[in-house]
Amino acid sequence: MSSNIEVVKRGVSLGAEIRNVDLSQTLSDDDFQVIHDALLEHQIIKFHDQDITSVQQIAFGNRFGELTVHPFSPNASDTPELIVFDNKEGVKPFFTDVWHSDETFRAEPPMATMLHSLIIPEVGGDTMFASMTAAFEGLSDRMQNFVSDMVAVHDFKPFKLLFNQNEEGKDQLRHFEKLYPPILHPVVRVHPETKKKALFVNPQFTINIKGMKERESRVLLDLLFEQAHVPEYQFRHNWTPNTVVMWDNRSTQHYAVNDYYPQRRNLERVTIKGDRPYGLMPKEELEQSTGPGNDEGYTEMGGHKPLRQFQRDVAE
Ligand SMILES: [Fe+2]
Repeated sequence: MSSNIEVVKRGVSLGAEIRNVDLSQTLSDDDFQVIHDALLEHQIIKFHDQDITSVQQIAFGNRFGELTVHPFSPNASDTPELIVFDNKEGVKPFFTDVWHSDETFRAEPPMATMLHSLIIPEVGGDTMFASMTAAFEGLSDRMQNFVSDMVAVHDFKPFKLLFNQNEEGKDQLRHFEKLYPPILHPVVRVHPETKKKALFVNPQFTINIKGMKERESRVLLDLLFEQAHVPEYQFRHNWTPNTVVMWDNRSTQHYAVNDYYPQRRNLERVTIKGDRPYGLMPKEELEQSTGPGNDEGYTEMGGHKPLRQFQRDVAE
């Protein structure tokens, strides 16, 4: 294989920088393979000094597979697969300062996400990443065994705040609830390419663990969510303009630090289609109809206290 691309490890658990590549150009198959393998190994990869257009970003994303359209995010109308995050005075960041893997409310969440930075605040606005394979491996053997065959319910709950309270809003919400009913995913996901095990529950979309009482589910989920908070499993990315960052949603979670508003931060995102997550349990256990997953039924927030952002947004 011939490629001049250099992969420089930047974090112990995850994170690498890719050098000697121009993403405005069509990549050779060999170059693409090096990048693809680096994504699997390092889980989040970054490319500096990439002055690329949206079309070039889409083309690079397409090398990894089909792109998906986010049902609730601000898309560019002529290129719906491109999400534009343009936060500035009057346009606050929405619900991205909570640990999550992207769009796990879908049956087939995206395998990877790619952001390109256009405008970056003078200070602040970092993105945090956590290796969920390291987070899983950091649990005791006993806890790993305990959670390995569990199934969790995921739901698009934070986006419900986007709908108006009037009849039209309620109709739209019902429409989306039909399209995206609560969905079952393994608590421990097996990565389809590396076969590594990763914790696959997140406080943005996971509402409970199937077959558990609400209180049990809440305590266990809180413990698992906190694995992403461990600094040893993290990588913090400080943005400069024209940086492309790409992460593997099957093995990581991320958190957009909400400390820069009302400074402007403008990023463009494309998202690559993924497959149905599987774990160590028989696949049929994930294919059952969804809905209340525990003995007591579940509330909209799965017994979790409304998140800080939820309280703040409602208060305003
Ligand atoms: Fe995200």
